[in-house]
Amino acid sequence: PPVTPPAEKLLGFTAVPKSLADLVTVPAGYTATVLYALGDPLTASATAFKNDGTDADFENRAGDHHDGMEFFGLSADGKASSTAVDRGILAINHEATTNQQLSSFFIHANGGTNTLPRPGAEIDRETALHGLSMVEVRKTGGKWEYVKDSAFNRRVTCLTECEISGPVRGNALLVTKYSKDGTKTRGTLNNCGTGRTPWGSFVSGEENWSGYFVRGAADNAARGNDKSVTSLNRYGRSQGAASRHGWESGGTDDKYARWNNSKLGASTDGSDDYRNEMNGMGYIVEADPYNKAKVVKKRTALGRYAHESAAFSKPVAGQPLAVYMGDDSRNEYIYKFVSTATWNPADATPTDLLAIGDKYLDSGKLFVAKFNADGTGTWIELALANSAITGFAGYKFADQADVLVNARLAGDAVGATKMDRPEWCSVNPANGEIYFSLTNNSNRTATPSGSSALVPDGPNPRAYTDMKGSTAQNGNPNGHLLRVKEGAAGSAATSFTWDVYLFGAESGADTSKVNLSNLTSDQDFSSPDGLAFSQSTGICWIQTDDGAYTDVTNCMMLAALPGQVGDGAKVTLSYPTANGGTLNVDTFVGKKPTADTLKRFLVGPVDCELTGITETPDGKALFVNIQHPGELTNQANIADPGKYSSQWPSNAGYGAGKRPRSATIVITKNDGGRIGS
Ligand code: FEO
Ligand code: CA
Ligand code: CA
Ligand code: CA
Repeated sequence: PPVTPPAEKLLGFTAVPKSLADLVTVPAGYTATVLYALGDPLTASATAFKNDGTDADFENRAGDHHDGMEFFGLSADGKASSTAVDRGILAINHEATTNQQLSSFFIHANGGTNTLPRPGAEIDRETALHGLSMVEVRKTGGKWEYVKDSAFNRRVTCLTECEISGPVRGNALLVTKYSKDGTKTRGTLNNCGTGRTPWGSFVSGEENWSGYFVRGAADNAARGNDKSVTSLNRYGRSQGAASRHGWESGGTDDKYARWNNSKLGASTDGSDDYRNEMNGMGYIVEADPYNKAKVVKKRTALGRYAHESAAFSKPVAGQPLAVYMGDDSRNEYIYKFVSTATWNPADATPTDLLAIGDKYLDSGKLFVAKFNADGTGTWIELALANSAITGFAGYKFADQADVLVNARLAGDAVGATKMDRPEWCSVNPANGEIYFSLTNNSNRTATPSGSSALVPDGPNPRAYTDMKGSTAQNGNPNGHLLRVKEGAAGSAATSFTWDVYLFGAESGADTSKVNLSNLTSDQDFSSPDGLAFSQSTGICWIQTDDGAYTDVTNCMMLAALPGQVGDGAKVTLSYPTANGGTLNVDTFVGKKPTADTLKRFLVGPVDCELTGITETPDGKALFVNIQHPGELTNQANIADPGKYSSQWPSNAGYGAGKRPRSATIVITKNDGGRIGS
């Protein structure tokens, strides 16, 4: 839908100050209400959440670590509606759980077991808390609530059967004991950012899945020294490294055994064990939020990596669709998928959402971004036909499915640009430009020593650690927002231009080295992560997931009204190098924000990150997630609520117990206006 011209002054609210208080702060004239928290029951028969570590039945409760989220409207008679403003379904990612050792300690009475083997009963709770929620929300008598007994309510966990769709379906890399023909897998895991397709379905990115699996230290020899270790290592894992939760230790049942990726059987293809199981994670998954009978599909054509969000280009009749995506790990890449099918506007209102997904998301080309120093860039296709890929010395790709499953290695082969951790991306509805959060990168320095250290470059130009502007170089701790403008071919373009829209920084930091966007105390932030444009107001909402500025303020959300690529100036940053020389880095900095174009809107409770941004189509209810409040609580203090670093949301009057809970909140304006005005 087109952006509604503002009838009111956007960003007219008073900026929220930085804060360390254990609560959600919004501007005067706004109200934030807790809507749906970890453990909340999703069926009529599920019991109220006691929040003392004795609750069970988590398959019928809200999961943990609420992350990306999208609103799907419902008409009064319960049909899909793109215009409904007082009833809908929230599709929510439950990314992870709070743990310091193996155990997700806030959901077990005594904090749980941190030695192997772990009790199956604890593991069952933890696996149930991961995945997705679909939950109905309604406004009744002016107040938003979730509907406990709605027939739309659904949980997908990391054990729910999912279908492998697209070019990787049926490939040998997906063959497991669970799916001997490589067409299905169990569950979706570490769901992080989200997106909404032009046909109205929900998409979700699988991010840090690799850490949940274990592979034996001696396993490479058992597999005949095949290339699978190269793949394992490239996705951040090494043989013999402990898994995040030790779920593989729960017993011989498939639901535990599948987390062990060692070769256990005699087969040559993995059909009698789970050596290929990790290849079933790391995709963009698509779900029909309105129909819980529809199996979630993994859209393998979009590549396998640590997916964050998926942002669709504005559909144009007769042209292909583009999907923009980031791989959230230090030094990883930015990707674009371009559909083979061209857009048919009749597909905007389908009867079968996932059938339309098959049409646009199962066939197309995957590209990776290469940024040039002069403000231009190219999209390089990751195709087996590319000689840089077929001839890559680092890994021998068997077929195009192998290229997609090992997209990181394919990106290496073509010399893609290593970025400062790409988190969310979003398309500006006003001009189609694509915005990327680059959250931070501790490895960026002009004096590199280790193999993973990178020198600053145009799109990742900062390497001064100290927010006050010292000349110490040890990375880009505050992150930045990059934006891309496609060439004349639009969604199918293979060239683009770019600039840095905004740099995170402390407002007092040196404006020539660190605070390059001249942020004031009403605007300063660190580590941008969640990012989404309102389709109603056009406001760009920016959320933080930070550790660098948390001595001063909890994580936050800002409202921005950005301009366009190229509206600022070229800036040259100079760094002393190890050999006594100077490294000059040219970059392009967007027009500096003013008090009318960037303003802090919300600060969250202690130890949380802000994530997930969605709204009703009229822009008058904004839904946001508070993820992992209190996560830095010492696990040893589980019995003493006075020592929890946060007691939110119980301290806001929501629910029983004092253990902190991830939760969805809804923000409304007291005068009934649009959010951000
Ligand atoms: Fe789940 Fe990249 O944040
Ligand atoms: Ca994130
Ligand atoms: Ca993050
Ligand atoms: Ca997180």
